[in-house]
Amino acid sequence: MNKDVIQAQIEKQVEQMKETIANAKDSAMLKQIQVELVGKKGTITGMMKMMKDLAPEDRPAFGKQVNKLRDLAVKLIEEQKKKRLEAEQETKFEAEKIDVSLPGKKSKIGSFHPITKGYYEIRDIFLGLGFDIMEGPEVEYDKYNFEMLNIPKDHPARDMQDTFYVSEDIVLRTHTSPVQIRTMLNQKPPIRMICPGRVYRTDDVDATHSPVFNQIEGLVVGKGITFGDLKATLNTFLKELYGEETKIRFRPGHFPFTEPSGEVDATCKTCGGKGCSVCKGTGMIELLGCGMVHPNVLRNCGIDPDEYSGFAFGLGLDRIVNIKNSITDIRLLFENDVRFLKQFK
Ligand code: DAH
Repeated sequence: MNKDVIQAQIEKQVEQMKETIANAKDSAMLKQIQVELVGKKGTITGMMKMMKDLAPEDRPAFGKQVNKLRDLAVKLIEEQKKKRLEAEQETKFEAEKIDVSLPGKKSKIGSFHPITKGYYEIRDIFLGLGFDIMEGPEVEYDKYNFEMLNIPKDHPARDMQDTFYVSEDIVLRTHTSPVQIRTMLNQKPPIRMICPGRVYRTDDVDATHSPVFNQIEGLVVGKGITFGDLKATLNTFLKELYGEETKIRFRPGHFPFTEPSGEVDATCKTCGGKGCSVCKGTGMIELLGCGMVHPNVLRNCGIDPDEYSGFAFGLGLDRIVNIKNSITDIRLLFENDVRFLKQFK
């Protein structure tokens, strides 16, 4: 083969190579070009094999040229690779660009349920008076819910609390009073506690009844506890809750687990005692039941009534919350309609 022909071929190859490399759009294409030029079966590699057709004296110069060509190819490909990579990164960055000046997504902040809010308010008053917080199960032994509270199986007081029976001996607690029993069985006096919780009765649902509602019970047992302590505690509590000007009235009542028992009314907050539809014209609202713990109840829990005495009280939290917030339908508390709930932020 003629030396000049080869020279011309090499020059043509350089031109072509420069163009293809410059036009390669991405790194995948460049890789392909690299294989086609300098790979095992590539064009430049192939040129080396043409050496044997040359006159021996032309071979060294030719070899040198082909080597230069190969180095050039590798260099151009590397340069182009770098350029492409930079361009590719640039587009990627552009696509992923974040405008930090855009307003963020607002997360909605929830609020406490009015029952929870009401409970916290009452809890804080009693915590301030040195009470502990106790809890008990909602599925309760008949024994704790009734019997040990001085309400035996055939006692008429059982009819007052329409009960969901799980089995003959197990009920859904009808009040939080069984927590009194659990506390006295587990703890020696002095005892000073409140226990909040859900309670259940087989009531049909209407504006003032629900088969599930919330109570808060209180219990104080110690040496020399009197009805005076009961009155003072409830006075302090209700004045804290409703305001210093609130008038409180104790009426006689009946509960099997307390003797004597009482019911407590407070000035109606809605009308300030003048009489309105909320208090049915009486100016007073019935708020809770209370009394001195019955000696039988103390005895049932292994506490000697000759040594210790105590008082207890129980209130309906839903009722207190409804009165406070002028909510006239108890169902609203359980439907969990966000439009209703968010008014209590
Ligand atoms: N357990 C009573 C009820 O659900 C409320 C009650 C009244 C609780 C007087 C007491 C109490 O501890 O002393 O109707």
